This record gives sequence, structure tokens and C-alpha cells, in this order.
Amino acid sequence: MTLTLNRLLPLLAASLALPLSATEIVGHRGASHDAPENSLSAMKEAWKQGADGAELDLWLSKDGRLVVMHDGTTKRIGGVDKKIVDQTWEELQKLDVGSWKDPKFTGERIPTLESIFDATPAGKKMVLEIKCGPEILPELAKVIKTSPLYPKQLVIISFNYEVMKQSKPLFPEVEHYLLAGYKKDKETGKLPELSEFVEKAKAAKLDGLDLNHGWPIDAAFVKGLKDQGLKLITWTVDDPEIAKRHVKAGVDAITTDRPAYLRENALGK
Ligand code: G3P
Ligand code: CA
Repeated sequence: MTLTLNRLLPLLAASLALPLSATEIVGHRGASHDAPENSLSAMKEAWKQGADGAELDLWLSKDGRLVVMHDGTTKRIGGVDKKIVDQTWEELQKLDVGSWKDPKFTGERIPTLESIFDATPAGKKMVLEIKCGPEILPELAKVIKTSPLYPKQLVIISFNYEVMKQSKPLFPEVEHYLLAGYKKDKETGKLPELSEFVEKAKAAKLDGLDLNHGWPIDAAFVKGLKDQGLKLITWTVDDPEIAKRHVKAGVDAITTDRPAYLRENALGK
């Protein structure tokens, strides 16, 4: 008995020294510090780095297919300065979306959402950011319906309030978070008001907000949201000091380009 206690106590002390946190780590565009953003490699890298979830961006092609990419054109990632919406899936599949990051990723293609779902381990979450309008929802519904993932493994986010309003009733079991940046309005010079987003999220029966790390996030801020029945995700946090502040404040999930680095340097696990 004594021996067991002697062995257990240091372990217990060590574990108590760790931040007591349920904050999840989400790979932003996958583990995009180490692999080409929004690629299958980036998603796999996120799982390898122990992320709890991975985020990606979605558009619709000219012929109505889901396209996993951040920008509205393929210039930065695929080297062709053309809007996604003006290209067919076949055209988009010709693009090399890996070599811009590093020659070792040469030949990587835009992944199907189905292939990303198939590579998502049990218990991990996929965070889907809708970059276009509600016209994407019927196709997304088809893919989600045949997905091997449980609704609780999916999260839908968007800056587009109309998208969120229409999406939540379509996928009621999937958590939805309204995105909000933290930049001064170009005309008024004013910073955005949290109350505006809280009211919108509540009116559309969303699950929470997904906020830029610039918002003044502390325990009172998070409690204020929880009191309104809203959860909180933050983005994009690569600085361990900011991540530690968010963990301490009780943020539900942090989105980062560097899941393993943040886990080791901010969460101590
Ligand atoms: O996870 C939210 C974040 O991705 C929103 O910004 O520009 O990286 O899509 P952006
Ligand atoms: Ca995004």
C-alpha cells in the first residue's frame, strides 16, 4: 500500500500542476504550419500532432462540387488566377496545391470532403467553415448524409449569418458557431460590439461564437457568453501566452496552425 502511494503521489502532484483544462485544440486549415493548408496531408498531420479537431474552408465549384480551399481564387495555392466558382471540379483537380508550401508536397490535389471524413479518426472533430453563400448547403447535406462521422464530430462555422441561419435547421445536431473578426470599421473607426453577435447567435439558435483572438477574452468574457448559453472557439492562436490566457478563461476550443506546439507549450500535455 505504502509503495503504491509513494508512486502515485508524485504523479498526482505533477498532474495537479498542469492546467486543469478541457479546452480542445483544433488544427487551423489542418496543421497548416507543417503541411499545405486545407490539404489531406494537413488534416493527417493534425491527427498526428494530437489535435482534437481540424478546421477547413469550403467553396462550391462551377459544377456544384465542394472545394476545400481558403481563398476565393486558386492563385495563391494553385498558381492559377481564376475564381473557384468559375472552374469545374475537373479543372480544379489539375492544380498542384502542395508545391507552393514545400517541394515535398508536390502533386497534392484538392481533397474531396469525403476523403477527409474517411481519414478522420473516431472521436475527432471536423470544423467546416463555409466561405460562400447558402447555395452550398444542398451539396453539403448530401456529403454529410453519407459521411461516416457522427453529427457530434462535425462543427459548422461561417462569417455569413444567412448561411448560419439556413444551416442550423438543416443540421440541428451539428454545432454551429458564428465567426467574428476584431477589426475597426473602416468608416466609423469603431471596434465590433460583442452584443451584436450574441443576439444574432441566439436568434438563429446557434451553439456559440468563433472569435478572433484579438477580442478581450478573459474569464468574465467567457462567463458572459456561457450565461447566454453560448460556447466559444477562438482563432488563430499560435502564441502559447495567448493560448494560456484562453485556457484560463475557459474557452471551449482554440484553433491553431500548430497543434503539437501549442499542446506542449500552453496546455502542458
Ligand atoms: O477558424 C476560423 C478562421 O479560419 C477564420 O479565418 O481567414 O482563416 O478562414 P480564416
Ligand atoms: Ca477558416
